[in-house]
Amino acid sequence: MYINFWYPAIASKDLSADQPARVQILGQRFVLFRDANGQARCLSDTCVHRGGALGKGRIRDGNVACPYHGWQFDGSGQCVQIPSMGANAKVPARAKVDAYPVAEKYGIIFAFLGDLPEAERPPLMECPEYGTEGWRANLIIFDVACSYERSIENGMDPAHNEFVHPAQGSPTMAAEIRQKPLDTQDGPWGSTTVVRYGKERGPEALGDAAPLRTDPHASFSYHGPNQLITWIHFGDDSKFQQYFFEAPIDETHTRIFFINMRSFMLEPENDGRLVKVNLAIAQEDIDILEALDPVFTPSSPTEEVLVPSDGAVISYRKYLKQWKDNGWHIDMDTLRANHLNRAYAIPCPERRTSGNWVLKAVPLVSVTEEKKAATG
Ligand code: FES
Ligand SMILES: [Fe+2]
Repeated sequence: MYINFWYPAIASKDLSADQPARVQILGQRFVLFRDANGQARCLSDTCVHRGGALGKGRIRDGNVACPYHGWQFDGSGQCVQIPSMGANAKVPARAKVDAYPVAEKYGIIFAFLGDLPEAERPPLMECPEYGTEGWRANLIIFDVACSYERSIENGMDPAHNEFVHPAQGSPTMAAEIRQKPLDTQDGPWGSTTVVRYGKERGPEALGDAAPLRTDPHASFSYHGPNQLITWIHFGDDSKFQQYFFEAPIDETHTRIFFINMRSFMLEPENDGRLVKVNLAIAQEDIDILEALDPVFTPSSPTEEVLVPSDGAVISYRKYLKQWKDNGWHIDMDTLRANHLNRAYAIPCPERRTSGNWVLKAVPLVSVTEEKKAATG
């Protein structure tokens, strides 16, 4: 799992003004709350007094108050009140927790989990049709008991559709592209691939309302380790554009925030039917993903047999390696060995400019040490 990317934390509608929420992402806990202006805030969940869970606390004057002894933290992570010391007491400088940049967009609250300064941060994946005329959006959130990397790889795998989703009109790869490498273009934060399909009609569950496939093709593009777009183009006036923002809850559980955009059947009364179709398709994938062995992607290409239709998966792994080389990969072995007697935090941007932090930053894989170990 990687620091220094944007992760979806909670649906906007699920964060009220008067109650904090506690979520787990990258194996760490976070508290989300709305400050006095209604702005969403995200802090490390662990109270630096004696380890209370801030996400189980309450909102007091736009701050989050720890449920244990009532210390209040503002949206910047600073402790602003220690009730046991009296109202006018000076709060110790170390009484602060990590605070993360937040973006509230597309009905989702996202947190940037890492310490990069703003100018260097990978951008959040964009969803340009959201809220525009001719498009209808549905946000669907569901959990899968699999590694998020396996889930993202599944979204860029054009050869599984005809086997896993036959009820969707058997979307088979066009014959002329089967023997060629996938047409994959690299971008700054991932690659984009276009795949042409046969002309079957579907999805079947939509019956006569199913769009005719006049020019069937699909493209997919991943953005960072955890975000993926699939453009499904049946014909000019019937498209699905599907945005997947995925949050690794931990190494083996993933929460998927899926925005399904459609350019047909736009009336809101069709939402239920379309959501049902999409959930049925997702369940077909989940049944495969939760049974994969090994649970993680193999660390060596010799432990699989990859073919041309796996081209985008190969590209994804190449980018992951780059992000690991940047020093952004969490060292889970060290973390697991220590987690019962030490609380960690994902480092926030302010750690680059100020010291005095109580919690240790999560350990990161040191690339030089790994290379040294490999070369003996
Ligand atoms: S543990 Fe949070 S106030 Fe004491
Ligand atoms: Fe699928």
